[in-house]
Amino acid sequence: MKKTILITGGAGFIGSHVVRLFVNKYSDYKIVNLDKLTYAGNLENLSDVENAENYIFEKGDIVDKDFIEQIFEKYNFDGVIHLAAESHVDRSITNPMEFIMTNVVGTVNLLNAAKNIWKGNEDGKLFYHVSTDEVYGSLGNTGLFLETTSYDPQSPYSSSKASSDHFVRAYGNTYGMPYVISNCSNNYGPNQFPEKLLPLFINNIKHSKSLPVYGDGLFTRDWLYVVDHARAIDVIYHEGRNAETYNIGGFNEWTNIDLIKVMCKQMDEFLGNPDGTAEGLITYVTDRPGHDKRYAIDATKLKNELGWEPSLQFEEGLKKTIKWYLENEEWMENITSGEYQKYYLEQYG
Ligand code: NAD
Ligand code: DAU
Repeated sequence: MKKTILITGGAGFIGSHVVRLFVNKYSDYKIVNLDKLTYAGNLENLSDVENAENYIFEKGDIVDKDFIEQIFEKYNFDGVIHLAAESHVDRSITNPMEFIMTNVVGTVNLLNAAKNIWKGNEDGKLFYHVSTDEVYGSLGNTGLFLETTSYDPQSPYSSSKASSDHFVRAYGNTYGMPYVISNCSNNYGPNQFPEKLLPLFINNIKHSKSLPVYGDGLFTRDWLYVVDHARAIDVIYHEGRNAETYNIGGFNEWTNIDLIKVMCKQMDEFLGNPDGTAEGLITYVTDRPGHDKRYAIDATKLKNELGWEPSLQFEEGLKKTIKWYLENEEWMENITSGEYQKYYLEQYG
């Protein structure tokens, strides 16, 4: 095998698309997926590659320092693509400590293990840290996040991600750790856990349940199809410059309410319901505390330097996404029974 790469959080939403792309595209790489399988981790996401010869799954917790050291000794990785995280803003508001442990302590455990094993032999090695645009805080009505925008995280989630970004840069600066960081906007697509806006609303419409829109619904996000994020990670991993940051985004801003209305229209078409049926489920609810008003990414650096661009138009991506959730009922049922019901009741009453 040419390279052995550790992908953390590979059983989650974005991680599973990154694992699939790397396993299929690089048959000469050994891909080790390390995941704790929290509520968000699901090996069903990877059933199509689980028997591939160049794929290995390791169940474990990045907060467990001894386990992480052992894994690095066992595989002697050439590279790390670090996606494992607690990723949902609402959960970070009810349980910030979990986010500090996984997102901060877990990241530092990985950095330490990589530093110790690569010491004096950093050539060709890379620690790729996958981060979010939320570290930049909230924009007003105009402007875009650049790689040089100052950090101003507003939620426990984004603060923990910002902290982990700082540690990665500190390890580069202090110990010469070869690294790259990317900060991406909101992803959508197959395999996303139905706590996030799109899969939650698709599932609710299917069951004729209300659609809880936070506040006035005029919050803005930039949406990117998850496979395009995985493609960007591939390009940055192989061609990105050491110690650089790359913003990744869809050049695709929507207010929540406009996005929800487009999605409702498509759902009515898919389900054969009269136009307006899904929209009738929209219910405005109490806002998320500290809700960031607007995120918008300028991904020009990635486009100019590495030639990456989103491949899908939004409405096409949304159709593909809805179709996937409607065709994968069992996937949805398996994760929305049990614990999910408790979460839903606590979050939405
Ligand atoms: P996700 O919640 O779907 O998946 C996270 C994965 O990490 C799960 O498989 C989970 O089991 C695993 N995990 C959690 N804690 C762990 C631990 N302590 N040890 C080992 N594994 C653990 O998340 P996602 O949406 O796929 O996000 C992946 C990464 O991308 C995160 O770092 C997130 O901050 C970042 N990101 C997400 C988005 C987005 O829109 N979802 C956008 C930009 C960046
Ligand atoms: O910007 C990147 C980030 O995008 C990632 O780093 C996070 O991991 C990811 O969860 C996502 O964060 P958001 O908070 O933007 O995503 P979420 O799907 O939770 O919410 C999207 C918007 O929809 C946000 O403005 C809140 C709103 N919303 C969300 C839910 C779950 C609602 O109005 N109602 C809801 O029930």
